[in-house]
Amino acid sequence: MSQTTTSPASLSGKTTDPLQLIDVDHVRFYVGNAKQAAFFYAHCFGFQIEEVSDLTTGSREAATYLLTQGNIRFLLTSGLTAEHPANMEVAIYGDGVKDVAFTVFDAEKAWEKAVSNGAASAQEPRTVSDERGSITTASIRTYGRVVHTFVSRSGQYDLPTVKKGGLFAPRFKKLESIGGAVLSINEHNRRHPCGLKYVDHLVGNVEEGKMNHWVKFYEDVLEFKMFKHFDDADISTEYSALMSKVMASGNNLIKMPINEPAPGKKKSQILEYLEWHNMTPGVQHLALRTDDEISSVAELRRRGVDFLSLPDTYYERVWDRVNTMLTQHGHKAVKEDHTKIKDLGILVDADDEGYLLQLFTKPLQDRPTLFFEIICRRGSQSFGKGNFKALFEALELEQERRGNL
Ligand code: FE2
Repeated sequence: MSQTTTSPASLSGKTTDPLQLIDVDHVRFYVGNAKQAAFFYAHCFGFQIEEVSDLTTGSREAATYLLTQGNIRFLLTSGLTAEHPANMEVAIYGDGVKDVAFTVFDAEKAWEKAVSNGAASAQEPRTVSDERGSITTASIRTYGRVVHTFVSRSGQYDLPTVKKGGLFAPRFKKLESIGGAVLSINEHNRRHPCGLKYVDHLVGNVEEGKMNHWVKFYEDVLEFKMFKHFDDADISTEYSALMSKVMASGNNLIKMPINEPAPGKKKSQILEYLEWHNMTPGVQHLALRTDDEISSVAELRRRGVDFLSLPDTYYERVWDRVNTMLTQHGHKAVKEDHTKIKDLGILVDADDEGYLLQLFTKPLQDRPTLFFEIICRRGSQSFGKGNFKALFEALELEQERRGNL
């Protein structure tokens, strides 16, 4: 069932489509204290703290840590000066995702095409080089405070070399060599892997009434296609509701569901997010893919990751619901140990193509904004629609505890 995000076949399209995405190059977070955030993501989620770009490497405005796991690359950036945009954005939004960057063949051409398709530019093409190679970046704005950067790489900065542990970009250096705490946490993580492979999908929350606007943006600007559609009758509890449409890149490399709040008796979790995010759209969650949900969640729980807990009634109904669906469509029943799934609090859902296992963390920072999902797919390509009711009831319980319902 394993699936990689980079298809060698995609290389054949090199000359035809400037918006062909090769990979998720990285996801950049703006955080209040990158050095400390690096240890949080390393300790709780098993990321390697690989490289740093800071004063010691000639970066005078910001400090950035590169964290990696499987084919996931996170950049954690903090401003070193009051004027740096990371500092200003952290003041307004708290820690969160700033940039979902895509590797492309030619960043300048991708940016030109996206801008001619109607995108607003966030950064004009810029090339940084040293003796090892060069990187060209150019960015467009998407919803709220989020941007998409196109990244093209050459020389020893090409993505295959980076994936093998080569330096990420000019002005970065390896951290292992300085030893100490980084060395010991990286060593621990190698011995006790969390098994996270790549970004499966990435969900944005936008304002009420704006979902279709952003669906059209991804169709027009990045030439994405609609992948699945849920309406608010599917995704609602007695008190809160949302509407969601899933956009996917041409090669299904990345899927980006877009949520908007829908009216409910109490405050929806989308609206709660927006209220703690300056009423500005942003990334609600990153779903990280594993091939072994039980081992991943067991290890993450050992590390103290705080997951959403489910109503007790969930496991009374789940096997009937899931296995009936699987049998109806000629698929084998869920093979993972049912007791372990229950003990670890993992969610299960099925559709006509198979099943999936998933679990959601609580917010990763003090504000109830960004969280992670840990997902394993066994045929199913959907997003756990059947779990939304159970999930929303759990989320509402959390909202009530925060006094935000
Ligand atoms: Fe998700």
